[in-house]
Parts: sequence; structure tokens; C-alpha cells
Amino acid sequence: MKFKSIEFKDDQLILIDQRKLPDKEENFICKDYKDVEYAIREMVVRGAPAIGSVAAYGVALSAIDKPLEDEFYKRCEFIRQSRPTAVNLFWAVNRMLEVMEVDKEINYHKLKAEADKIYVEDIKTNKKMAQIGNEIIEENSTILTHCNTGALATVAYGTALGVIREAHYTGKNIFVYADETRPRLQGARLTAWELVKEGIPSTLIADNVAATLIRDKKIDVILVGADRIATNGDTANKIGTFMLSALAKVYDVPFYIVAPVTTIDFDIKTGDEIEIEERSALEVLKVRDAQIAPLEMNVYNPAFDVTPHENITGIITDKGIIYPPFNDNIMKIKE
Ligand code: MRU
Repeated sequence: MKFKSIEFKDDQLILIDQRKLPDKEENFICKDYKDVEYAIREMVVRGAPAIGSVAAYGVALSAIDKPLEDEFYKRCEFIRQSRPTAVNLFWAVNRMLEVMEVDKEINYHKLKAEADKIYVEDIKTNKKMAQIGNEIIEENSTILTHCNTGALATVAYGTALGVIREAHYTGKNIFVYADETRPRLQGARLTAWELVKEGIPSTLIADNVAATLIRDKKIDVILVGADRIATNGDTANKIGTFMLSALAKVYDVPFYIVAPVTTIDFDIKTGDEIEIEERSALEVLKVRDAQIAPLEMNVYNPAFDVTPHENITGIITDKGIIYPPFNDNIMKIKE
């Protein structure tokens, strides 16, 4: 990898400040759990697996000054409330709390060791997923992707972009179209940044170009990530994913989700149970600091949408590719 999106050193969490990319490559340092909560909420760091890893370090940092148990739980809850949709956040906080509950002790070093484990596992998981996903990528494929699912959205490598990386590293001749992904432009600012750094042949498109490319048979496969997957296969991902899946269905283009098993919420049956985050109107009224609409205008700004399982060809996970019927096959992965 040509950069580290997340690094824990000298009791501090160092993050690439993703709000500033691609024009400025600056770090954001989290010195305590409050900085970690801020970093997740304000999208200094974003992407489901990255949020999970960072939240785990946030829980460890919550213990550094040896707080009383009530205060420690309050801090963990504060981190948990930072964003509502990506299940990796809750998964990571719960896993950290289990460590603490085993020996009923708030031990910073033990918690930090567990966060390190989550960090290392995420890298391994992504590499595994990339290898599994690469099997469905044919030579000379043109791939469409949405949002940023790369090394910035995970500890390293990525999910959907990890599969793309692997295809490129293994010498396949591939071409990528990246949606710019309004309103936060994760595709334009982050995916394009990663694709350029890796030298992967690619083109950036405005989100509304995708339909034309799909209709004109310019896309062989669509690969996207996930923030939460219900046990029937319904998948929450970046706003605009549902629209792509509907087009894929109409024009018969394979549509794959790439996500670790930790993104499956085994406690929910359908996508109706997924809380969709709504973010500030300013994200739509402005592009960064430039105003592009009257500030008095009403705005609807959901950060995610749910792709119904019937639009999904398969879910590429670290434990293999899950195909329909998702209800049965997702539960089998849990066993
Ligand atoms: O709002 P974001 O940028 O956190 O949303 C990110 C996505 O929707 C990604 O596609 C998803 O987290 C998978 S990333 C590996």
C-alpha cells in the first residue's frame, strides 16, 4: 500500500484527514476518545470497516485515564452514537466491551491489544475478499463502482476497490468507471485519488452518467461496498447505490456487493430495520465551501439507501461469495 489511512502510535490515533483529500494530504491526530468520536461524526474517517477499526481504538483511548466503570460505558456509548448506519461501528464497540467484561477490568493495554487485533484482521479480511472477488472479474472487464471502498474506507486494501486492486495487481486488463458520489464526493475526491496513485486505468463520471453507460453496454460488472447487510440480503450502502442496482437489473448487468462478514447484521431480517443517517443540508447547498444553492432552500440528504436483495447478484465476503437465496445462505455463513 502506498499510504496508511489509520495508524496507532504513542497512544495516539493518526488518521489521514479524508475531508481534505485530494488537494491536501494532512493527518488528523486523535489524542482521546472525544477526538475519535469527532473524527467519525465529521467524516475525517469514513467507510464501514475503517469506522469499526477507529471506534475500537476510541474504546481503548476511553480507558487510558482509568475512568470509573460508569464513565467508561458513557464514553463507549458516546462513540457508538457518532454515526447510525454502518454496523461495523457497533460490532467493534461490542467486541471491545466483551474484552473488558471477561476480567471485569478497564485495562487500556488489553483494550489496545484487541483494537490492534481488529486492525490486523481487517487487512487480512480485505485481502481474502479481494482474492475471492477477483475470481469473478474477467479479463478486459469494465467495472463501475460507487463511493469510496478502498484503503481509505478500511484499514488497507479495501472492499470493492480491493477486488479492483487485486484484479489490477494480478495483471488483468481492467478499466474502472468511478461515480463522483454526490454530495460528499467520495468517488471524485477519494476513489479517484486511490485509482490515480495505483495507476489503475479509470475514468471519473458524474453520478448521472451511469445510466447511459449501463444502457450502452459499456459496463460488465458493478462492484460496491456495504454499510449494513440484513439477513435477507437487503444492503445499505452510499446513497445512489439503489439506483445503480435498479439499472443493473433492467439492463442485466451483474451487481455485486463486496463486504466483510462483520458488515452483516445478523440481528435484522430486512433492510427496513436499518437506520439511514440524514446529514446536514449544507452538504447539498455547498460543495465544500462554495455555495451552489440558496441557503434558505429545503434539502433532503440521506447518506445511504437500501438496495433490495432481489437486485443483488451476489455478496462477496471473506468467507466466500453468497448467492441467492440470501435468507438461507447468509445464515449458513454465520455457522
Ligand atoms: O458515508 P461514508 O463515506 O462513510 O459511506 C461509505 C460507504 O457507503 C461505503 O460504500 C461503505 O462504507 C463500504 S466501504 C468499504
